[in-house]
Amino acid sequence: MAEERVLYEGKAKITYATDDPNVVRLYYKDSATAFDGKKKGTIKDKGPINSAITEVFFKLLEKAGVATHYIDRPSDREMRVKMLRMIPLEIVVRNVTAGSLAKRMGIPEGTALSSTILEYYYKDDSLGDPLLCESHIHALEICSKENLAKIGKTAFKVNEVLTPFLAQRDIKLIDFKLEFGFDSEGEILLGDEISPDSCRLWDAKTNEKMDKDRFRRDLGQVEEFYAELNRRITS
Ligand code: TMP
Ligand code: ASP
Repeated sequence: MAEERVLYEGKAKITYATDDPNVVRLYYKDSATAFDGKKKGTIKDKGPINSAITEVFFKLLEKAGVATHYIDRPSDREMRVKMLRMIPLEIVVRNVTAGSLAKRMGIPEGTALSSTILEYYYKDDSLGDPLLCESHIHALEICSKENLAKIGKTAFKVNEVLTPFLAQRDIKLIDFKLEFGFDSEGEILLGDEISPDSCRLWDAKTNEKMDKDRFRRDLGQVEEFYAELNRRITS
């Protein structure tokens, strides 16, 4: 049946074809990976939580004028989205030093930044998602200057919308990753997901890590913190 045809199975989601060639259905799995798929596990109820949180964020962003691939969420693990031709870049926005930036620069996690950082990584697990400069992206023809500028502007806008929304819920947005693609009309839309898998989210009062770093670093209580984020963000 055309409805059930798997177009692509990734680490956290399965993409199914639908009757409409411009629409695909994403199925959010509970499986979790880290370090380019080298570490594997399961986070119970991650699928429904990540799809619910992504829906809240995408609706909020659409209201603020950010075009996303989101259409609707027919069940707790499924999202219908516009079919995109993805740009093979991971766009990372950082408000506070953490993760690979802290490691690369030898700076303690949690150190404030005097301005927001925008980074680009080439999306290829077999290469370990290498960090790119703008000139790499242009010279290797990964994305045009105009489109990269558009993407950068949108990434900052996402930060401006999500930071206060999360702060009102006692959550600090430390950093996050976005992916973009072209729809059938050649428009650039925000795609993939925005979830505790793709953001660093710390409790505003205690600085406790509430996101996928709990899984990456074996910090324990992974499911409890995902559930708490779900409660704060979706209710
Ligand atoms: P990093 O500090 O490990 O480079 O991660 C920056 C942000 O990007 C963090 O919020 C987690 C997210 N991220 C992903 O969504 N996918 C990835 O593969 C990696 C490495 C990070
Ligand atoms: N995308 C990374 C991987 O699987 C996961 C991560 O660290 O977020 O391996």
